Amino acid sequence: MTRRPILAGNWKMNLLTAEAKELATSLAAQVGDVNDRDVVLIPPYTTLPVVREAIAGTKIALGAQNGHAETSGAYTGEVAMPMIAEAGCVYVIIGHSERRQYYGETNASCNAKIKAALAADLKPIYCIGETLEQREAGETLAVIEKQLTEGLADFQAAELEPLVLAYEPIWAIGTGKTATPEQAQEVHRAIRDWLQKHLGEEAAAGLRIQYGGSVKPDNVDVLMACADVDGALVGGASLKADSFARIVLFNTD
Ligand code: PGA
Repeated sequence: MTRRPILAGNWKMNLLTAEAKELATSLAAQVGDVNDRDVVLIPPYTTLPVVREAIAGTKIALGAQNGHAETSGAYTGEVAMPMIAEAGCVYVIIGHSERRQYYGETNASCNAKIKAALAADLKPIYCIGETLEQREAGETLAVIEKQLTEGLADFQAAELEPLVLAYEPIWAIGTGKTATPEQAQEVHRAIRDWLQKHLGEEAAAGLRIQYGGSVKPDNVDVLMACADVDGALVGGASLKADSFARIVLFNTD
């Protein structure tokens, strides 16, 4: 099965309205009609409206960086999945390592958030990945397996059809240290093996696994050439129109 590539720009906590509008407008012009791959912009909540407007009428989709597991309630500072959907988002990142590290998110809380996202008709981008310490201790695959087992607990394969996975080795995020294609492929393959074992052949063949961690215009092509790498989740290099456009237009020929 050929999986449709998915390139997503996670803007993290960057860009004020005018900058967000400029970036989204430039990307709309450069890659707005790309239709053989999915392109997603994931700005902070406050600039969702302006980005939504800038990409209206293009093939680019909108996403949010996080969402709460409850649909409403007394959770000051939080944003619920139905609110995110109403704001025009199609995707929502869940369990980014920065949220796990700074905001105490766990595999169990991610599981609840994935449920809430699916209930709101959002496509979750579930992030997993090991620390440098875990990699050096030879624990990478065990860590990944636990993140999958706990994060995806209690779902039937069919329910997870909208899911996107993102393998983001923590030591490669924002550090300029990219995983080699071999390192990425090894883990992506292990993720697909896990999917096959726990969710079946069809889910394993169909679910997309993005790589994230210092993806740049000059390394995207080799990463995307890996058999089990189906896209990229891009931080720093998604903040400049030319560099993200080049990433979107990766070429593995
Ligand atoms: P980076 O971030 O591309 O800046 O390394 C990736 C991410 O955190 O999703």
